[in-house]
Formats: sequence, structure tokens, C-alpha cells
Amino acid sequence: MEIDEKIEQIELLRKAFDNFNQATEKLQNSYKELQDEAEKLRHEVEIKNKELKDKTDLLNAVMMNATSAIVVINENGDLIMRNNSAEDLIKSIDAKDLNKIFSEKKRSLFDVEVGNRFFNVSVGDFLFSGEKGYIYIIDDITVLKEIEKEQRRNEHLKLMGEMAAGIAHDIRNPLGSIEIFASLLKRDLEGDREKNNLLNSIIKGVKTINSTISNILLFTKDIRITKSSFYISDIIDDVILFMKHLMNEKKIIFNNQINEDDKIYCDAELIKQVVMNIIHNAIDAVDIGGKITIYSKESEKDTSIFIEDNGHGIDPDFIDKIFMPFHSKKAKGTGLGLSIVYKIIKAHNGNIVPMSKPGQTIFKITIPKGG
Ligand SMILES: Nc1ncnc2c1ncn2[C@@H]1O[C@H](COP(=O)(O)OP(=O)(O)OP(=O)(O)O)[C@@H](O)[C@H]1O
Ligand SMILES: [Mg+2]
Repeated sequence: MEIDEKIEQIELLRKAFDNFNQATEKLQNSYKELQDEAEKLRHEVEIKNKELKDKTDLLNAVMMNATSAIVVINENGDLIMRNNSAEDLIKSIDAKDLNKIFSEKKRSLFDVEVGNRFFNVSVGDFLFSGEKGYIYIIDDITVLKEIEKEQRRNEHLKLMGEMAAGIAHDIRNPLGSIEIFASLLKRDLEGDREKNNLLNSIIKGVKTINSTISNILLFTKDIRITKSSFYISDIIDDVILFMKHLMNEKKIIFNNQINEDDKIYCDAELIKQVVMNIIHNAIDAVDIGGKITIYSKESEKDTSIFIEDNGHGIDPDFIDKIFMPFHSKKAKGTGLGLSIVYKIIKAHNGNIVPMSKPGQTIFKITIPKGG
């Protein structure tokens, strides 16, 4: 082979190597680009996966901790899923009662009573990965039902109250006349002991009806108070004047230990009504010759009045109910007295505490000075 020919061949080979090198470099670059692209994609997938997991976790947390009980069952009635509230609910209900909720598959929304509780249930169709079933969303609406019942009761009470107020109002006027005529007659018949006793009974009866009517009217009205500073002893003296007939009849020893200087910041007419109701109850509770004591304590921020009797006391299982209207243990009691007492004390931002055992009952009333 000629030398020139060899040189030419070497040159061709060199060029071929150059081309090969260039192609390799291109290939390397493309591979690098591909690697970068793959890395970018992998990163994006990672972010998407994380987002998906966060969303799933969030949905799970919302569902698991929802206050509504959520239960999913398949068409055979097998449990597929339930949240925490559902777990508590299922634990708290008899297995046979659960059927009242889960046998219902057609209605989409209904209320059901289970034991002493009420539930609102919504049923929806469920389809996931080819499996069919039902989703139940269950809410305990017992409290809501009780509020509804209470509201209906209150509406009835309100109507009854309005009616009673109308009647009470109409009774009041002729009653006032009866009291005046009886007092005039009593004056004319001063010497006649027998007739005087009869008239005392009429006057006492009128006073009792009057105080019942005041209670009914106070019960039906919103209480508005106008406060000033009063000596407690003045308030008590007025009450005693009104109640002495009742006390004399039962030969009650009334022990007035109110401090002469103690003052109370209140609506005096309403506090008279309070004391009158409590003393009335004390008179009913004691035997003939029983004892009622009243005393007071004044501090920088409030004034307390204690009314104590040595009567039969209040049953421990009844004491929680005495301030509720229409709770009475007396044959002729309306059960309004203490509910009005409570309403008046609360309108004064005050407090009333009963303490009772057989042979001793104390009502402690506390009224703040400022407001
Ligand atoms: N000092 C007391 N000792 C024993 N029981 C009491 C005393 N005060 C209240 N009670 C009980 O609380 C119940 C409710 O009292 P409240 O004054 O509200 O109604 P009432 O006296 O029965 O009827 P009303 O006052 O409307 O005529 C009474 O029926 C009684 O059983
Ligand atoms: Mg009473």
C-alpha cells in the first residue's frame, strides 16, 4: 500500500473516531437530560403523593372526629367503616336497638327513638371499588327534643299564665272592697268577740288570696326593679304587719334579730314579696307554737337575710325542685311562691340558698350592694 493511501485511511479513521466521540457526547448529554427529566418527574410525583396523603389524612381526621356518627355497611349488613362517634354510639346502645337504625335503607332522612334517646339519621347509597352499601350519618338529638318539649311546655305555661293573670286581675278589685268592708265591720263590732273572730278569719283569708294573686301576677310578668337603699328592719316590720294574723293563729314565736342598722340595696316591694313567701312557707312548715327566726348580716359588698324555722324540713330529694314553678307538696299550694322568690332574687343579681334538715330550715338570701 502506498504511503499516501495509508495516510488517507488513517485520516478517515480519525474522522470516524471524531464522529463517534461526538455521537457519544450527544448521547451522554441526552442521557443526562433524560436523567434530569426523570428526577424532576420523580420529585413531582413525590410532591403529588405527599399532597394526596395530606388530603387523605385530613379527610380521615375530619371523618373520624366528626361529632356525627358515621357508619358504612355493605349490602349484607357487614360493617365496612365507622368513625369514633359511631364507635361510642354503638357501645352505648343495646345490640337489638341498633336494628332500629340500621334496618332502615330506603328513607333518606328520619328521626328514631332508641331507649330514652332520639336520633336523626340520614341514609345514603355507597359505592366503592365495586362494593355497594349504605352510609349512615347519625346525630343524637335528645337534648334538642327536650328543648322542643320544654318550649311547648313554656308556651302552654305562658298561655295559662296569661289566662290566670286576667282572672287574678279581675279578682283583685272586689277583694280589696271585701277587705275594706271587713275592717269597717270589725271596728263597729269591737266588743263582740265571736263576730270579731269571724271577721279576723275573713281578713286573713282575703290577705292569703291577695298574696296568691300577687304571686300569679309576678309569675306572668317580667320583673322590673327599681333599687334604693332601705333598712331591712323597715321591710320586715311591714311584712310582719301583714302576716301577724297567720302567725297568731298558729301561736308562732317570731324572733326578730335583724340588726337595726343593716341596710339592703333593693326594690323594697319585691323583697317584701320574697320575705313574705318564705315566712309563709315557714308558717306552714312549723307545728303550733313553732319558732321562726330572722336575722341579717351586712358586709362591704352585700347584705344577707336569714329566715329560719323549726318545722318539718324539706326532703333532700325535693330540695332541688323547690324553686321550679308548680312544685308543691301542699294540698292547696300552687307551687309558685319560691319560683317567684328566685325570679326576684336573680333580678337583683343576688343568690338564695336553702339549707334544711328535719327540725330546721334556713333560707339565706344574699343581695349585692352595687348592682
Ligand atoms: N320552710 C320550709 N320548710 C319545709 N318545706 C318547705 C319550706 N319552704 C318550702 N318548702 C317546700 O317547698 C315547696 C315549694 O314552696 P313554694 O312556696 O314554691 O310553693 P307552695 O308553698 O307549695 O305554694 P304557694 O307558695 O304557691 O302557695 C313547698 O310545697 C314545700 O314542700
Ligand atoms: Mg309557698
